[in-house]
Amino acid sequence: MENVKRYTVTAALPYTNGPVHIGHLAGCYLPSDIYARYLRLAGEDVLYICGSDEHGVAITIKAAQEGLTPQQLVDKYHNIIKNSFADFGISFDVYSRTSSPVHHKTASDFFKVMHDKGVFTKKTSSQFYDNETRQFLADRYISGTCPNCAYEKAYGDQCERCGKSLDPTDLINPKSTLTGNTPELRETSHWYLPLQTYEPWLKEWLLEKHNDWKTNVIGQCRSWLTQGLHERSITRDMDWGVKVPLPDAEGKVLYVWMDAPIGYISAAKEWAEATGNQWEPYWKNDDTKLVHFIGKDNIVFHCIIFPTMLKAHGDFILPDNVPANEFLNIEGDKISTSRNWAVWVHEYLQDFPGKQDVMRYVLTANAPETKDNDFSWKDFQAKNNNELAAILGNLVNRVSILTGKYYNGKIPARGVQTQAEAGLGQEVQAYPDKIGNLIRDYKFREAQQELMNLARVGNKYLTDNEPWKLVKTDEERTATVMHHSLQLLANLAILSDPFLPHTSIKLREALGLHGRQWNEAGTLQILQEGFEMGKIDILFDQIEDAAIDAQIEKLHANRVQVETPVKINPFKADISFDDFSKMDLRIAHILEAEKIPKTQKLLKLTVDLGIEKRTIVSGIAEYFSPEEVVGRKVCIVANLAPRNIKGIQSQGMVLMVEDAQGKLMFLQSDGEAPAGAEAR
Ligand code: MF3
Ligand code: ZN
Repeated sequence: MENVKRYTVTAALPYTNGPVHIGHLAGCYLPSDIYARYLRLAGEDVLYICGSDEHGVAITIKAAQEGLTPQQLVDKYHNIIKNSFADFGISFDVYSRTSSPVHHKTASDFFKVMHDKGVFTKKTSSQFYDNETRQFLADRYISGTCPNCAYEKAYGDQCERCGKSLDPTDLINPKSTLTGNTPELRETSHWYLPLQTYEPWLKEWLLEKHNDWKTNVIGQCRSWLTQGLHERSITRDMDWGVKVPLPDAEGKVLYVWMDAPIGYISAAKEWAEATGNQWEPYWKNDDTKLVHFIGKDNIVFHCIIFPTMLKAHGDFILPDNVPANEFLNIEGDKISTSRNWAVWVHEYLQDFPGKQDVMRYVLTANAPETKDNDFSWKDFQAKNNNELAAILGNLVNRVSILTGKYYNGKIPARGVQTQAEAGLGQEVQAYPDKIGNLIRDYKFREAQQELMNLARVGNKYLTDNEPWKLVKTDEERTATVMHHSLQLLANLAILSDPFLPHTSIKLREALGLHGRQWNEAGTLQILQEGFEMGKIDILFDQIEDAAIDAQIEKLHANRVQVETPVKINPFKADISFDDFSKMDLRIAHILEAEKIPKTQKLLKLTVDLGIEKRTIVSGIAEYFSPEEVVGRKVCIVANLAPRNIKGIQSQGMVLMVEDAQGKLMFLQSDGEAPAGAEAR
């Protein structure tokens, strides 16, 4: 993108159903903060936005668990999260929330514009309804027996035991988790976004115009696009959320992933209102560069769905990049909020007061930029002790102590430069661009390494020139070495701001460098001779084993063992011979087969039972083509009550077995059984 006049930088809106952990920081809040801080220092016009994502079923479930109303719940976590970010120095220009009136209006208007343009389709489908609470049930509000592994507490969207993703109607014996009642299927209407219509455009926009995005990001996009996009329902039967602004939409709200990204726009409005600025340029002008920072679980929403919404709406710019990160693990294990395997940001700040920059440093050094990465407390300790304290802290400490001792804290005269200073000057000159370009390329780990390399350059200069020895023989030369060492500190003070803002402030304060910009670094002429520097306390003290052991212990002690379902009897309960003889199992001869349009799994079969022909809908299309099944003699349940599947009456069920890989096979007779032969 050329001629960029301003930047809109967004960080994923965190769900307010719990506090934030270090995986969130590493995934998107630190990289976006480094990016925004750098751009500001580089003199760019930046709007850095975030806020709480406060709608959705996860919130209502959590609220019920905590005995709060959804509003009370989101209020609670909104504040905890907001404070954690502020304490960590995440420099949002605005931290908004999706329950705000501005957002409700913005999201509602956005939907209305799309609706009036005829973007959506409206469709009726059957969904589970709880008669007692009088509401349609979200997938998570339905549980029952998993058809795959027989686990009895599977949810309507997924079985947490075998991991299979489910449709609520797949569950055997479904129950409402609200009342325990058996829900009934009722018709309800929803609005759908036909993503498939936008597929050609998305292919061009993503795969041709943006194939320079990070490989982990564009790879996911490519895979979505090759699999083919489908329509997505964008409304829900619920009362917590943004009301659907249509007359025939009583009791319906926008799906949370429809309203949340619009929250980025609402946040900009809120910022504008609070500061007396215009928000439109940040969302509507072509010379604005929009960058979304997210974790990898959000890629499809930010690279496919939200861009489609923006495109269909028409008034807004599209993202220029979506530099999503992969996941951070902790001590070799996946972060899990339900198992409480996490390092919570607000707890870290209590346990390690004043050490925000240590965590920032460690998380950026281990940032999961290209693959999942690990955080361990031992590594945290090592990075603090061997890098921050030993390299950066040590340099600052030596220079400031010597300056105090030799010159009462006043910057000594520059004196005569030798080759050592010329060499130092040349090295230093390269750093602002080197670091800045890496940041612009979203390579934050490498950028931070370069910052440390600059500190190493300073340490080497100091060690090579040994002012503590020189001072005994050559006052002038001592002054020159100290002067240049201080100039190097001044560079570090400025260039560390994006990564280590709390450290940067201390250095800037001591050296009188408030307000200095990125491009003022890169020289050895930043500080004036005679300026009296302030005192700098030890920047990074050693972190002892005891503190680290305590954290490791805490992590394990608080780990919640999620009830791994006890191994249930793999067989179903006994039945009587009578029960068995109620089943009518027969050999059926498949005469015809065809794919059922708009479905992935279903074949419509016409079978001969000797006495009559039947139509049976069977979910085998992923394993068998119609040609492959015609002519086979298979076993069916002939007296299963007819069921309506995709508008077709299915009069029976074909019996299948699975191999170890889950591949389906027919149950067939050994030898030529005639069509209609009964199994007994
Ligand atoms: N709340 C979502 C999550 O934590 C992120 C929402 S990002 C937005 O995964 F685009 F919707 F705002
Ligand atoms: Zn299962």
